[in-house]
Amino acid sequence: MYQIIDGKKISQEIKEELKEKVAVLKEQGKTICLAVIQVGNDPASSVYVGNKKKACAYIGIESQSYELPEETTQQELLELVQRLNADDKVNGILVQLPLPKQIDEGKVIQTIAPEKDVDGFHEKNVGALCVGSKGYVSCTPLGIIQLLKRSGVEIAGKNCVVIGRSNIVGKPMALLLLRENGTVTVCHSRTQNMKEITKQADILVVAVGKPKLIDDTYIKEGAVVIDVGIHRGADNKLCGDVDFEKAAPHTSAITPVPGGVGPMTIAMLMYNCVSSVSENPVP
Ligand code: GUN
Repeated sequence: MYQIIDGKKISQEIKEELKEKVAVLKEQGKTICLAVIQVGNDPASSVYVGNKKKACAYIGIESQSYELPEETTQQELLELVQRLNADDKVNGILVQLPLPKQIDEGKVIQTIAPEKDVDGFHEKNVGALCVGSKGYVSCTPLGIIQLLKRSGVEIAGKNCVVIGRSNIVGKPMALLLLRENGTVTVCHSRTQNMKEITKQADILVVAVGKPKLIDDTYIKEGAVVIDVGIHRGADNKLCGDVDFEKAAPHTSAITPVPGGVGPMTIAMLMYNCVSSVSENPVP
């Protein structure tokens, strides 16, 4: 029988720990403020931004909300980011992605002060992760490490395979698993004989962005499978990149969609915000 890794429960535990920590920090006169910027009104982004603000309110972090129109120019957005960089009250700056096509996302990310880049997307923070020094780490992969640790999954010495090489998930995921002493392989769209590789994985992290692509034929018996994808199927139900029904019976543990990785991303954003004023806020 396989274990279902409950991201909702684990993310709630982390939020409770952070809430306690924030209360203690407040007594010491340390408050935390996150500025959240959304450009345009993409419905999915509005849901994510709303959930981020709700999480802030829950754990006791102040959030400032900047809702800019779709036709905002790059210059206008950069000026707002620079103003927030210079504002001592603001500890963290989050620009919700994707941005409208007239704006260069890379340029915006690199303009955020690295010490306020709670998404962990700035080159300085990515570089810090790469060489093992302090810095913010991208929230989704950071949350996956917490899911594994808090579910009792040993990473050191294990064969870890990551499918996907995005800057937000795949690449930082590979670096974090390596930091935990896993033996790491990254697969992507040009990988040949992918099944041969994934069938060696003790821990398989799937972030391909294709609904139900990964079924039992990709999985070693007893592997731990982490599904980063989220899609709405033709039946209007949410599903992941993994075909849960087919894959789950062959795993020892697997994340569901929804309720697996998703809630962890926001919990770790809160973790990054708290760590802007306090080291190692949760175990
Ligand atoms: N869009 C999708 N995921 C993310 C994320 O983690 N951070 C930001 N800023 N935008 C996103």
